[in-house]
Amino acid sequence: MSAPLDASGLGALVAQASAAIASSATLSALDELATTLRAKDAPLLLARRSLGEITDEAERKATGARVGEAMEAVNAALAARRSDLEAIERRAQLERDALDLTEVVVDQVRVPVRRGSLHLVTQTRAALEDVFVGMGFEVAEGPEVETDWYNFEALNIPPGHPARDMYDTMYLDLGLPETALLRTHTSPTQIHLLEKAVAEGTLPVHAVMPGRCYRLDTPDARHLPVFHQIEGLVVDKGITFGDLAGVIETFTAAYFGPDIHSRLRPAYFPFTEPSAEFEITCTICRGEGCRTCSRTGWIELGGCGMVDPAVFEAVGIDPAEYSGFAFGFGIDRCAQMRHGIADMRALIENDLRFARQF
Ligand code: DAH
Repeated sequence: MSAPLDASGLGALVAQASAAIASSATLSALDELATTLRAKDAPLLLARRSLGEITDEAERKATGARVGEAMEAVNAALAARRSDLEAIERRAQLERDALDLTEVVVDQVRVPVRRGSLHLVTQTRAALEDVFVGMGFEVAEGPEVETDWYNFEALNIPPGHPARDMYDTMYLDLGLPETALLRTHTSPTQIHLLEKAVAEGTLPVHAVMPGRCYRLDTPDARHLPVFHQIEGLVVDKGITFGDLAGVIETFTAAYFGPDIHSRLRPAYFPFTEPSAEFEITCTICRGEGCRTCSRTGWIELGGCGMVDPAVFEAVGIDPAEYSGFAFGFGIDRCAQMRHGIADMRALIENDLRFARQF
Protein backbone atom coordinates (compact mmCIF):
# COMPACT_ATOMS: atom_id res chain seq x y z
CA MET A 1 0.00 0.00 0.00
CA SER A 2 1.51 3.28 -1.00
CA ALA A 3 1.23 6.16 1.44
CA PRO A 4 0.63 9.78 0.48
CA LEU A 5 3.71 11.84 1.18
CA ASP A 6 2.68 15.23 -0.12
CA ALA A 7 1.41 17.94 2.18
CA SER A 8 -2.26 17.52 1.30
CA GLY A 9 -2.18 13.74 1.62
CA LEU A 10 -0.52 13.97 5.04
CA GLY A 11 -2.94 16.74 6.05
CA ALA A 12 -5.85 14.49 5.19
CA LEU A 13 -4.40 11.65 7.28
CA VAL A 14 -3.98 13.97 10.26
CA ALA A 15 -7.50 15.33 9.84
CA GLN A 16 -8.94 11.82 9.65
CA ALA A 17 -7.03 10.68 12.74
CA SER A 18 -7.99 13.83 14.65
CA ALA A 19 -11.67 13.28 13.88
CA ALA A 20 -11.48 9.71 15.12
CA ILE A 21 -9.63 10.86 18.25
CA ALA A 22 -12.19 13.55 18.99
CA SER A 23 -15.05 11.10 18.70
CA SER A 24 -13.52 8.54 21.10
CA ALA A 25 -15.91 8.60 24.02
CA THR A 26 -13.97 6.68 26.64
CA LEU A 27 -10.38 6.16 27.72
CA SER A 28 -10.48 2.55 26.65
CA ALA A 29 -11.80 3.47 23.17
CA LEU A 30 -9.03 6.04 22.92
CA ASP A 31 -6.42 3.45 23.91
CA GLU A 32 -7.66 1.13 21.22
CA LEU A 33 -7.53 3.89 18.61
CA ALA A 34 -4.00 4.86 19.68
CA THR A 35 -2.90 1.27 19.16
CA THR A 36 -4.33 1.28 15.64
CA LEU A 37 -2.78 4.65 14.80
CA ARG A 38 0.62 3.44 15.96
CA ALA A 39 0.46 -0.02 14.39
CA LYS A 40 3.07 -1.03 11.83
CA ASP A 41 0.57 -0.81 8.99
CA ALA A 42 -0.92 2.54 10.02
CA PRO A 43 -0.77 5.05 7.10
CA LEU A 44 1.59 7.44 8.86
CA LEU A 45 4.01 4.68 9.76
CA LEU A 46 3.90 3.34 6.24
CA ALA A 47 4.63 6.86 5.05
CA ARG A 48 7.63 7.06 7.32
CA ARG A 49 8.90 3.72 6.14
CA SER A 50 8.64 4.73 2.47
CA LEU A 51 10.91 7.73 3.02
CA GLY A 52 13.88 5.53 2.22
CA GLU A 53 12.64 5.15 -1.32
CA ILE A 54 13.11 8.85 -2.06
CA THR A 55 16.49 9.16 -3.74
CA ASP A 56 16.82 12.93 -3.78
CA GLU A 57 18.26 13.88 -0.40
CA ALA A 58 16.77 17.37 -0.14
CA GLU A 59 13.33 16.04 -1.01
CA ARG A 60 13.72 13.16 1.48
CA LYS A 61 14.57 15.62 4.25
CA ALA A 62 11.66 17.91 3.48
CA THR A 63 9.21 15.00 3.25
CA GLY A 64 10.64 13.47 6.44
CA ALA A 65 10.02 16.73 8.24
CA ARG A 66 6.39 16.80 7.04
CA VAL A 67 5.80 13.20 8.12
CA GLY A 68 7.36 13.97 11.51
CA GLU A 69 5.07 16.97 11.96
CA ALA A 70 2.03 14.92 11.00
CA MET A 71 2.92 12.26 13.54
CA GLU A 72 3.46 14.86 16.23
CA ALA A 73 0.10 16.41 15.44
CA VAL A 74 -1.59 13.03 15.89
CA ASN A 75 0.25 12.37 19.16
CA ALA A 76 -0.68 15.81 20.47
CA ALA A 77 -4.33 15.19 19.59
CA LEU A 78 -4.20 11.85 21.42
CA ALA A 79 -2.66 13.44 24.53
CA ALA A 80 -5.16 16.28 24.58
CA ARG A 81 -8.13 13.93 24.24
CA ARG A 82 -6.65 11.67 26.91
CA SER A 83 -6.48 14.46 29.46
CA ASP A 84 -10.04 15.58 28.60
CA LEU A 85 -11.37 12.05 29.01
CA GLU A 86 -9.50 11.56 32.26
CA ALA A 87 -11.09 14.69 33.67
CA ILE A 88 -14.53 13.56 32.52
CA GLU A 89 -14.14 10.09 33.98
CA ARG A 90 -12.79 11.46 37.28
CA ARG A 91 -15.76 13.76 37.58
CA ALA A 92 -18.15 10.89 36.88
CA GLN A 93 -16.40 8.77 39.52
CA LEU A 94 -16.69 11.54 42.11
CA GLU A 95 -20.37 11.88 41.36
CA ARG A 96 -20.87 8.15 41.77
CA ASP A 97 -19.00 8.18 45.09
CA ALA A 98 -20.72 11.21 46.53
CA LEU A 99 -22.68 10.50 49.69
CA ASP A 100 -26.19 11.77 49.54
CA LEU A 101 -26.84 13.02 53.02
CA THR A 102 -30.41 13.85 52.16
CA GLU A 103 -31.24 10.27 51.27
CA VAL A 104 -34.24 8.95 53.17
CA VAL A 105 -35.33 5.42 53.59
CA VAL A 106 -38.73 5.45 51.99
CA ASP A 107 -40.27 2.80 54.19
CA GLN A 108 -39.00 4.33 57.41
CA VAL A 109 -42.33 4.18 59.13
CA ARG A 110 -42.99 0.51 58.60
CA VAL A 111 -39.37 -0.70 58.82
CA PRO A 112 -37.50 1.65 61.13
CA VAL A 113 -33.77 1.70 60.60
CA ARG A 114 -32.17 0.63 63.87
CA ARG A 115 -28.93 2.30 64.75
CA GLY A 116 -26.40 0.13 66.60
CA SER A 117 -24.49 1.25 69.66
CA LEU A 118 -21.41 0.26 71.61
CA HIS A 119 -21.77 -2.67 73.99
CA LEU A 120 -22.37 -1.63 77.57
CA VAL A 121 -18.98 -3.00 78.66
CA THR A 122 -17.24 -0.93 75.97
CA GLN A 123 -19.17 2.15 77.04
CA THR A 124 -18.26 1.51 80.67
CA ARG A 125 -14.59 1.07 79.84
CA ALA A 126 -14.59 4.39 77.96
CA ALA A 127 -16.35 6.19 80.83
CA LEU A 128 -13.84 4.80 83.36
CA GLU A 129 -10.92 5.82 81.16
CA ASP A 130 -12.39 9.33 80.93
CA VAL A 131 -12.56 9.68 84.70
CA PHE A 132 -8.95 8.59 85.17
CA VAL A 133 -7.62 10.62 82.24
CA GLY A 134 -9.32 13.60 83.89
CA MET A 135 -7.26 12.84 87.01
CA GLY A 136 -3.98 12.83 85.04
CA PHE A 137 -3.60 9.11 84.32
CA GLU A 138 -2.44 7.71 81.01
CA VAL A 139 -4.15 4.69 79.43
CA ALA A 140 -2.03 1.63 78.58
CA GLU A 141 -2.78 -1.89 77.41
CA GLY A 142 -1.03 -5.23 77.82
CA PRO A 143 -1.28 -8.64 76.13
CA GLU A 144 -4.03 -11.12 76.99
CA VAL A 145 -1.67 -14.06 76.55
CA GLU A 146 0.95 -13.83 79.26
CA THR A 147 3.85 -15.83 80.58
CA ASP A 148 4.03 -17.18 84.09
CA TRP A 149 6.55 -14.44 84.91
CA TYR A 150 4.20 -11.55 84.16
CA ASN A 151 0.96 -13.06 85.45
CA PHE A 152 2.48 -14.52 88.64
CA GLU A 153 6.17 -14.50 89.46
CA ALA A 154 6.98 -10.82 88.97
CA LEU A 155 3.83 -10.10 91.01
CA ASN A 156 5.36 -11.96 93.95
CA ILE A 157 3.33 -15.14 93.34
CA PRO A 158 6.00 -17.87 93.02
CA PRO A 159 5.15 -21.44 91.85
CA GLY A 160 3.14 -23.23 94.50
CA HIS A 161 1.93 -20.01 96.15
CA PRO A 162 -1.60 -20.49 97.50
CA ALA A 163 -2.76 -17.28 95.76
CA ARG A 164 -2.49 -19.18 92.48
CA ASP A 165 -5.60 -21.15 93.49
CA MET A 166 -7.94 -18.23 92.84
CA TYR A 167 -6.28 -17.53 89.49
CA ASP A 168 -6.84 -20.80 87.62
CA THR A 169 -6.87 -20.29 83.88
CA MET A 170 -6.21 -21.85 80.47
CA TYR A 171 -2.60 -22.79 79.82
CA LEU A 172 -1.41 -22.63 76.23
CA ASP A 173 1.10 -24.89 74.59
CA LEU A 174 2.90 -22.46 72.30
CA GLY A 175 6.13 -24.46 72.22
CA LEU A 176 7.88 -21.68 74.16
CA PRO A 177 10.42 -22.32 76.91
CA GLU A 178 8.13 -20.35 79.25
CA THR A 179 4.63 -21.28 80.33
CA ALA A 180 2.02 -19.25 78.44
CA LEU A 181 -1.47 -18.65 79.79
CA LEU A 182 -4.54 -16.45 79.42
CA ARG A 183 -4.02 -13.67 81.94
CA THR A 184 -6.18 -13.87 85.04
CA HIS A 185 -6.01 -10.17 85.85
CA THR A 186 -4.70 -6.91 84.41
CA SER A 187 -1.96 -6.68 87.07
CA PRO A 188 0.72 -8.15 84.71
CA THR A 189 0.42 -4.96 82.66
CA GLN A 190 1.91 -3.17 85.70
CA ILE A 191 5.07 -5.24 85.18
CA HIS A 192 5.23 -4.44 81.44
CA LEU A 193 4.86 -0.72 82.18
CA LEU A 194 7.46 -0.71 84.94
CA GLU A 195 9.97 -2.71 82.88
CA LYS A 196 9.52 -0.27 80.01
CA ALA A 197 9.82 2.80 82.27
CA VAL A 198 13.02 1.41 83.78
CA ALA A 199 14.49 0.54 80.36
CA GLU A 200 13.62 3.94 78.92
CA GLY A 201 14.29 5.94 82.07
CA THR A 202 10.75 7.37 82.07
CA LEU A 203 9.68 6.93 85.70
CA PRO A 204 7.35 8.13 87.26
CA VAL A 205 4.34 6.15 86.02
CA HIS A 206 0.69 7.19 86.36
CA ALA A 207 -1.43 4.83 84.29
CA VAL A 208 -4.66 2.88 84.09
CA MET A 209 -4.70 -0.37 82.14
CA PRO A 210 -8.06 -1.74 81.01
CA GLY A 211 -8.51 -5.10 79.31
CA ARG A 212 -9.96 -8.58 79.07
CA CYS A 213 -9.12 -11.29 81.62
CA TYR A 214 -9.84 -15.00 81.95
CA ARG A 215 -10.47 -17.42 84.80
CA LEU A 216 -11.77 -20.95 85.04
CA ASP A 217 -14.92 -19.74 86.78
CA THR A 218 -18.44 -21.00 86.28
CA PRO A 219 -20.61 -18.11 85.14
CA ASP A 220 -23.05 -16.89 87.77
CA ALA A 221 -24.85 -13.66 88.65
CA ARG A 222 -21.58 -11.94 89.61
CA HIS A 223 -18.83 -13.83 87.72
CA LEU A 224 -17.95 -14.46 84.09
CA PRO A 225 -15.06 -16.65 82.95
CA VAL A 226 -14.12 -13.95 80.44
CA PHE A 227 -14.39 -10.54 82.03
CA HIS A 228 -12.78 -7.09 82.09
CA GLN A 229 -10.69 -5.26 84.62
CA ILE A 230 -9.09 -1.89 84.88
CA GLU A 231 -5.77 -1.69 86.68
CA GLY A 232 -4.26 1.47 88.11
CA LEU A 233 -0.63 2.16 88.94
CA VAL A 234 1.18 5.18 90.31
CA VAL A 235 4.91 4.92 90.97
CA ASP A 236 6.80 8.04 91.99
CA LYS A 237 8.83 9.41 94.86
CA GLY A 238 6.95 9.91 98.14
CA ILE A 239 3.65 8.25 97.20
CA THR A 240 1.58 7.33 100.28
CA PHE A 241 -1.46 5.28 101.22
CA GLY A 242 -3.28 8.62 101.59
CA ASP A 243 -2.76 9.26 97.87
CA LEU A 244 -4.31 5.87 97.13
CA ALA A 245 -7.35 6.51 99.35
CA GLY A 246 -7.82 9.95 97.78
CA VAL A 247 -7.71 8.60 94.23
CA ILE A 248 -10.22 5.85 95.05
CA GLU A 249 -12.65 8.25 96.71
CA THR A 250 -12.34 10.83 93.91
CA PHE A 251 -12.92 8.15 91.30
CA THR A 252 -15.94 6.71 93.16
CA ALA A 253 -17.73 10.04 93.40
CA ALA A 254 -16.85 11.00 89.82
CA TYR A 255 -18.09 7.74 88.31
CA PHE A 256 -20.98 6.69 90.57
CA GLY A 257 -22.16 10.10 91.80
CA PRO A 258 -21.54 12.32 94.84
CA ASP A 259 -23.69 10.25 97.23
CA ILE A 260 -21.62 7.08 96.64
CA HIS A 261 -18.49 6.79 98.80
CA SER A 262 -15.59 4.39 99.15
CA ARG A 263 -13.98 2.62 102.07
CA LEU A 264 -10.84 0.50 102.33
CA ARG A 265 -10.71 -2.69 104.40
CA PRO A 266 -7.56 -4.68 105.15
CA ALA A 267 -6.99 -7.55 102.73
CA TYR A 268 -4.18 -9.58 101.27
CA PHE A 269 -2.67 -9.49 97.79
CA PRO A 270 0.85 -10.80 97.14
CA PHE A 271 1.83 -7.78 95.03
CA THR A 272 0.81 -5.03 97.48
CA GLU A 273 1.74 -4.38 101.10
CA PRO A 274 -0.33 -3.23 102.87
CA SER A 275 -3.31 -4.36 100.79
CA ALA A 276 -6.95 -3.43 100.95
CA GLU A 277 -10.26 -4.28 99.40
CA PHE A 278 -12.17 -1.26 98.32
CA GLU A 279 -15.88 -1.10 98.76
CA ILE A 280 -18.38 1.48 97.62
CA THR A 281 -21.78 2.45 98.93
CA CYS A 282 -24.31 -0.09 97.64
CA THR A 283 -25.78 1.49 94.53
CA ILE A 284 -29.00 -0.53 94.84
CA CYS A 285 -30.04 0.68 98.33
CA ARG A 286 -27.73 3.71 98.48
CA GLY A 287 -26.29 2.47 101.77
CA GLU A 288 -29.53 1.52 103.56
CA GLY A 289 -28.78 -2.22 103.45
CA CYS A 290 -30.43 -4.66 101.06
CA ARG A 291 -30.16 -8.22 99.76
CA THR A 292 -27.57 -7.34 97.12
CA CYS A 293 -25.14 -5.96 99.71
CA SER A 294 -26.03 -8.56 102.39
CA ARG A 295 -27.52 -5.70 104.45
CA THR A 296 -24.13 -4.05 104.95
CA GLY A 297 -24.75 -1.03 102.71
CA TRP A 298 -21.38 -1.65 101.01
CA ILE A 299 -20.33 -3.57 97.91
CA GLU A 300 -16.83 -4.74 97.10
CA LEU A 301 -15.43 -3.40 93.87
CA GLY A 302 -11.75 -4.32 93.78
CA GLY A 303 -8.38 -4.61 95.43
CA CYS A 304 -5.61 -2.12 96.02
CA GLY A 305 -2.55 -1.37 98.09
CA MET A 306 1.00 -0.08 98.15
CA VAL A 307 3.27 -1.73 95.56
CA ASP A 308 5.17 -4.52 97.34
CA PRO A 309 8.98 -4.03 97.48
CA ALA A 310 9.30 -7.53 95.92
CA VAL A 311 7.54 -6.21 92.79
CA PHE A 312 9.91 -3.24 92.61
CA GLU A 313 12.86 -5.60 92.93
CA ALA A 314 11.52 -7.88 90.17
CA VAL A 315 11.63 -4.97 87.72
CA GLY A 316 14.83 -3.38 89.00
CA ILE A 317 13.44 -0.36 90.89
CA ASP A 318 14.94 0.59 94.25
CA PRO A 319 12.07 0.47 96.79
CA ALA A 320 14.06 2.87 99.01
CA GLU A 321 13.85 5.50 96.29
CA TYR A 322 10.38 4.93 94.82
CA SER A 323 7.01 4.03 96.26
CA GLY A 324 3.64 3.56 94.65
CA PHE A 325 0.13 2.27 94.80
CA ALA A 326 -1.92 -0.01 92.59
CA PHE A 327 -5.54 -0.97 92.28
CA GLY A 328 -7.63 -3.23 90.11
CA PHE A 329 -11.34 -3.77 89.70
CA GLY A 330 -13.92 -5.25 87.38
CA ILE A 331 -15.30 -3.18 84.53
CA ASP A 332 -18.27 -5.53 84.13
CA ARG A 333 -18.89 -5.21 87.87
CA CYS A 334 -18.93 -1.41 87.53
CA ALA A 335 -21.47 -1.63 84.72
CA GLN A 336 -23.55 -3.95 86.88
CA MET A 337 -23.50 -1.59 89.87
CA ARG A 338 -24.10 1.56 87.96
CA HIS A 339 -27.04 0.19 85.98
CA GLY A 340 -28.49 -2.15 88.60
CA ILE A 341 -28.03 -5.30 86.51
CA ALA A 342 -29.13 -8.24 88.65
CA ASP A 343 -27.34 -10.95 86.67
CA MET A 344 -24.04 -10.30 84.94
CA ARG A 345 -24.63 -13.07 82.41
CA ALA A 346 -26.99 -10.65 80.65
CA LEU A 347 -23.84 -8.91 79.39
CA ILE A 348 -22.88 -11.86 77.19
CA GLU A 349 -26.23 -13.34 76.23
CA ASN A 350 -26.72 -10.99 73.28
CA ASP A 351 -30.38 -10.50 74.03
CA LEU A 352 -31.12 -7.32 72.10
CA ARG A 353 -33.92 -6.39 74.49
CA PHE A 354 -31.21 -6.06 77.13
CA ALA A 355 -28.46 -4.59 74.94
CA ARG A 356 -30.67 -1.86 73.46
CA GLN A 357 -31.35 -0.30 76.83
CA PHE A 358 -27.88 1.23 76.93
N1 DAH B 1 -5.30 -8.35 90.44
C1 DAH B 1 -6.23 -8.49 91.55
C2 DAH B 1 -7.29 -9.51 91.18
O1 DAH B 1 -7.64 -9.61 90.05
C3 DAH B 1 -6.86 -7.17 91.89
C4 DAH B 1 -5.89 -6.23 92.47
C5 DAH B 1 -5.67 -6.18 93.82
C6 DAH B 1 -5.16 -5.38 91.66
C7 DAH B 1 -4.77 -5.32 94.39
C8 DAH B 1 -4.23 -4.51 92.23
C9 DAH B 1 -4.06 -4.48 93.59
O2 DAH B 1 -3.51 -3.68 91.49
O3 DAH B 1 -3.19 -3.61 94.13
O4 DAH B 1 -7.75 -10.20 92.03
